[in-house]
Amino acid sequence: MHSAAAFRERTSGISMTIEEKVAKTLAELGAADAQGVESAFAELRRAAEHERAELIARGASDEGERDRVCKSLRDRWLARKGGLLSLADEHWLKSASKGIKPVAGRQFNEFRRFAACLEFENLIEAVPLQQAAERQMELSLSPEIVRPTPRDLTLPGFCRPAGSIHPISRMRREIEDIFLNLGFRIETGPEIETTYYNFDALNIPESHPSRDDWDTLYIDSKTLLRTHTSPVQIRAMEKYGAPVYIITPGKCYRRDNPDSTHSPMFHQIEGLAIDTDITFADLKGTLDFFAKKLFGEKVRTRFQPSFFPFTEPSGEVAVSCFVCDGKGCRVCKESGWIELMGCGMVNPQVLRNGGIDPGKYSGWAFGLGVDRFAMVKYDISDIQLFFQGDMRFLEQF
Ligand code: DAH
Repeated sequence: MHSAAAFRERTSGISMTIEEKVAKTLAELGAADAQGVESAFAELRRAAEHERAELIARGASDEGERDRVCKSLRDRWLARKGGLLSLADEHWLKSASKGIKPVAGRQFNEFRRFAACLEFENLIEAVPLQQAAERQMELSLSPEIVRPTPRDLTLPGFCRPAGSIHPISRMRREIEDIFLNLGFRIETGPEIETTYYNFDALNIPESHPSRDDWDTLYIDSKTLLRTHTSPVQIRAMEKYGAPVYIITPGKCYRRDNPDSTHSPMFHQIEGLAIDTDITFADLKGTLDFFAKKLFGEKVRTRFQPSFFPFTEPSGEVAVSCFVCDGKGCRVCKESGWIELMGCGMVNPQVLRNGGIDPGKYSGWAFGLGVDRFAMVKYDISDIQLFFQGDMRFLEQF
């Protein structure tokens, strides 16, 4: 059967609500080709328009109710969490099969623009108040009262386009979701840090080059803009003790000149797991699982020895190129591998600094650059694009 017809057949006969429809995938709704996808989105558009018109026709008894109904309609369609637009993104677009993905993407973007033009917030102007209508009646009955100039309803409306999720936030959320599902909690720390948390407690000696004025942005001799998210490790140990399983997303700062791979402000996520009997095997297993979830089941991970003062032993993790499967291409710079992050077993001295007994507990940690992950995953060659606010770039996400 024709897919648009299949879509209608599957969905109309059983009279599913629009919520029920966006909770299913396009495949489940029987939208298997371009026409099926278009009719699914057409239905979404009709539903939004219908609800808007209905709200205007119904009116509101006072301003409080009017603000409430306008807001709830806006939230129902546009709320970031659970709004129908974002559910369509989640269930229709993200899980669309390869064959219908391009048309689903186009339809979704069109719907997003359309939904933005419905101006649910600004409906306030359009929803009639019953009291106001009565007052208007009185006014028209008493000609001595000057009536306000009526609005020119023929003027075009304002259209405020809906935004989209910034690629860095999108990447961060994807990484967070994987670790949240593994039972980690999200912990944040201050961007203005002390030298103690940023360096000393992490076993970074006074003479370490990263402490240099040229690498670190100091506020005064004891205060700085954190250069990595690792200080949150110590703060979390002090706050929760052991066992602890956290990831710590956030902004970091270094005295780097902006170029295509450097930015004085960038984003990291740190991971920390401390418990009894934690070994390097747990670290390898977790990071391998993480890489497969993020880049696809067929990637392999590679651990090479490295050095960080806060971990012993330390390693660098790379993943086999998810584009060429290790053969060598532009994305992996012909090496077959993509460097992902630093990691290691938490140095016993760092555990002690965090108030945890290294005789009883052990742990692993890692630190990764979110911007770099987003560049690799979305094939972006210039880190500056993330921070320039150019709509032509941002609109693609
Ligand atoms: N803090 C390191 C950096 O910014 C990254 C890092 C490496 C974090 C190893 C860790 C780790 O937790 O174990 O370069």
